[in-house]
This record gives sequence, structure tokens and C-alpha cells, in this order.
Amino acid sequence: MSIKRIGVLTSGGDGPGMNAAVRSVVRMAIHEKLEVVGIIRGYTGLINGELMPLNHRSVSNIINRGGTILKTDRCLEFLTEEGQLRAVETIKANKIDGLILIGGDGTYRGGIELVRKWKIPCIGVPGTIDNDLNGTDSTIGSDTAVNTALESIDKIRDTATSMERIFVVEVMGRESGFIALQVAVGAGAEEVLLPEQRYDIEAMCHEIVEGNLRGKVSWIIIVAEGAAKAEDIAKKITEMTDLETRVVVLGHVQRGGIPTAKDRILATRLGAEAVRLLLKGESGKAVGVKGDEINVVDLEYAVSKKELKVGELYSLIKILT
Ligand code: F6P
Repeated sequence: MSIKRIGVLTSGGDGPGMNAAVRSVVRMAIHEKLEVVGIIRGYTGLINGELMPLNHRSVSNIINRGGTILKTDRCLEFLTEEGQLRAVETIKANKIDGLILIGGDGTYRGGIELVRKWKIPCIGVPGTIDNDLNGTDSTIGSDTAVNTALESIDKIRDTATSMERIFVVEVMGRESGFIALQVAVGAGAEEVLLPEQRYDIEAMCHEIVEGNLRGKVSWIIIVAEGAAKAEDIAKKITEMTDLETRVVVLGHVQRGGIPTAKDRILATRLGAEAVRLLLKGESGKAVGVKGDEINVVDLEYAVSKKELKVGELYSLIKILT
């Protein structure tokens, strides 16, 4: 089937750089003489037929903007047969020959359904701060999220040092400790709790008490949301050491803001490559970058559990504390 008209959507948690990816998809499609429609609110918009034609100008001045101009949603209805049927009706009624899906795990799983069950050509572009998709070293948004978290933790360090306190800082990442590990190294944190690694609170408290005796009185402990709740960890530290703690949950600030150069470049490369793949007749694939090369994998592989290499970075955290 020849591709004349494509659709693009962003779905799941937004991430900085999604707009840069949308811009790249739209302009590469126009360059290739294709028509492009934007689907609003991800799979929800596909079900409800919320579409808008996109032209060169529609994506002007968005490369530097966080969030997504297409809006996004977590769509439970798409998990049902009925929801998928309605989405496919929208695709057919609007003569959409292929879809580019920008998002994370849930977005890709939706794509797998569209390809397998409904034979709709789909290509995935990795857009999530969590960096939990296989086939790419980095997902669009993760570099910005790490930098945003770091900026906040640098500020926390100022007060932690001045008031000689222990701070327990929770970062996002769902089941992945990627953001936490990067942030812990970059912030020079004393400890990081990750879902990928067993942790021992008692041993950590012992270290804190020993450190205190040597005059080390301020601590930054990073907790990945998939490992524990910062609140619980802080309570345990106080119970075991009798020292005061403070808790910061960085939350959704990590999802916003101006995308870094790295995220914009990644998004620009991957959005364009996704269009090229659809044109080549590919489907059920996800684009990524490995080393500095474009890498294409099956959507199924992309959503399989990504291994986080903890060893080297974690040991540096501990040696350099
Ligand atoms: O997947 C991105 C992410 O920000 C996760 O890190 C986090 O667990 C989740 O989304 C939060 O989702 P919501 O915005 O729906 O609360």
C-alpha cells in the first residue's frame, strides 16, 4: 500500500522534546509530499475522531517548547476491543495510511495492538522521561528530566549543607531507576535507592551515624519512585539514627521545561526517521539511537524490560562520597 497521508499522536506522560519530534515528523512528511494530520490527546483523540490537519506553519516555534501541542492522555478505553474498533474507524474514515506514535511503554503497546490485530502500519518514537524503552540509549525527554532534577537538587544541597541536614529526594521513573542513578551521580549524592538493586536501610543508617561522628552532617539520598517512597525512607532513618530528615518529592516538575539540546536533536532525528520507515513500508517498529547510529527494533522488543547498568556508576557514588 502506498502511503499518502499519515497521522501523528503523542500519548502517555508528556516529556520535553515531544514537540521537537512532532515538528520533525510534520516537516519530513511534507518534504516527502505526504499529508499529515495531528491526532489530539493520543488514543483518546483517535477514538473520538479529534484530528487537525498539520502544515509547515503548524509546527513553527515549537522545537524549544516543553509539553506537546498535540496534547496527551492515558487512554483506558483503548485497552478495550470497542475502543480499538472506534479508533480504527477514525483511521479508515480519514484515509490515514500510517501512524507515528510518540510516547512510552503504553503508547507502544497500543501500537502493537494496531499492527497485530488491525493491520494498521505504525512506527513508534520513544518519548518518555523514564528512559525505560529498549532499542535506544536514550528516550526523548529523559535528558531534560535529569537536568531539571539536578537543578533542584543543587538548590537542596545549599540548604542541606547550611542547616546540616539529611534530605531524602524522590525522583520519577516508574519502574526504572535511570533518572535516579543519573541524578545521584550528577548531584554528588551520598546514596541512591533503585528498583534494580537491593538496598539495606540499616547499613545506610549505620553509614550516616559513622559519617556524623567524622563530622559529615549533610546527606542527599536519592530515591527512585519505583524503589520506595521518600517519606517512608526518611521516617526509618529518623527512627534508626535519631537524626532529623527532610523530604522532597520532585514530582511533575521533572516532566516540564525547555528541552535540552540532546533531547531536541534526538527528537529531530527520530521523528524524521519514523516518516522514512513508514514510506519504506515498515510497520511495528520503534526508532532509536544506539551509539550515534539510528537503530530500529520491533515494538515488542522496545517494551521488553530494559536493563539498567548500575554497577560502575553506583560504585563511583559510594567511592566518591
Ligand atoms: O512515565 C512518565 C511518568 O512521569 C513516570 O515517571 C511517572 O511514574 C508517571 O509518568 C506519572 O504519571 P501521571 O502524570 O499520570 O501521574
